[in-house]
Amino acid sequence: MQTITTIAELRHALVQAREAGKRVGFVPTMGYLHEGHLALVAASRARSDITVVSIFVNPTQFGPSEDLSAYPRDFPRDEQLCRNAGVAIVFAPDAREIYPAGSETFVEPGGLAKPLCGSFRPGHFRGVATVVCKLFNMVQPDAAFFGQKDFQQCAVVRRMALDLNLPIEIVDVPTVREPDGLAMSSRNRYLGGEERRRALAISRGLFAAADEFRSGERNVEKLIEIAKEQLNNVDRLQYLELVDCHTLERAASPLRLTSALCGAAYVGSTRLIDNVILSFPAP
Ligand code: PAF
Repeated sequence: MQTITTIAELRHALVQAREAGKRVGFVPTMGYLHEGHLALVAASRARSDITVVSIFVNPTQFGPSEDLSAYPRDFPRDEQLCRNAGVAIVFAPDAREIYPAGSETFVEPGGLAKPLCGSFRPGHFRGVATVVCKLFNMVQPDAAFFGQKDFQQCAVVRRMALDLNLPIEIVDVPTVREPDGLAMSSRNRYLGGEERRRALAISRGLFAAADEFRSGERNVEKLIEIAKEQLNNVDRLQYLELVDCHTLERAASPLRLTSALCGAAYVGSTRLIDNVILSFPAP
């Protein structure tokens, strides 16, 4: 495995692979890797000849009052996990490499970035779209892999790849959960013992609604209410919405199309997000 920090070295390392006709899979991350990231690597390895993982805590996707400086980092451990997982290249640039001095050009996503997390984290998806577009330009992968836990991020990135004519397959990989249901996230490490227990309310709420959906409930307000009933234990619910998977707008009731039930809540000072997909079988 190679660890690379500059764009020039990265391009050089990838030239040969491309000339040899190898398919390049790409997993963008902010590091502090967990099983969810390793599932993205496994998905990439299953569909690509070589896998590149980027590790870059992207400043432009954090708001002024968010946790950029406190974001967990453990590069030696990340490198070891990547080596064990069969990653070919770890790309770990610093901020000046990604954002050259005087940098002032951004990718501005449209309506998909507005609801849900977008309404609580202004500018977040602009930062995500910008860095993902830059990383795509650097790696030029055939396919890129994103976790479904970040459902809105997947939608924004897929739309961006389409709108900017990027010849990259965007693959969503199902959320990996702890045995008790908590969605894996680098931010879970902030949760103290009692908070960790209370954080389970989010997945419980989503699962309760998904169970009712499987039993035939199709009323959108009712499904949202069922999920919210479990959420007394969180400190601040930001949103709990049932949205159309393509537009991210409130799903029409009664539900007829595959939709996503998405939530964001604070437990202590940790902001957690999660979602479940309520699927209808393909016609
Ligand atoms: O999902 C993440 O970790 C980040 O938003 C991403 C896609 C690596 C961009 O910084």
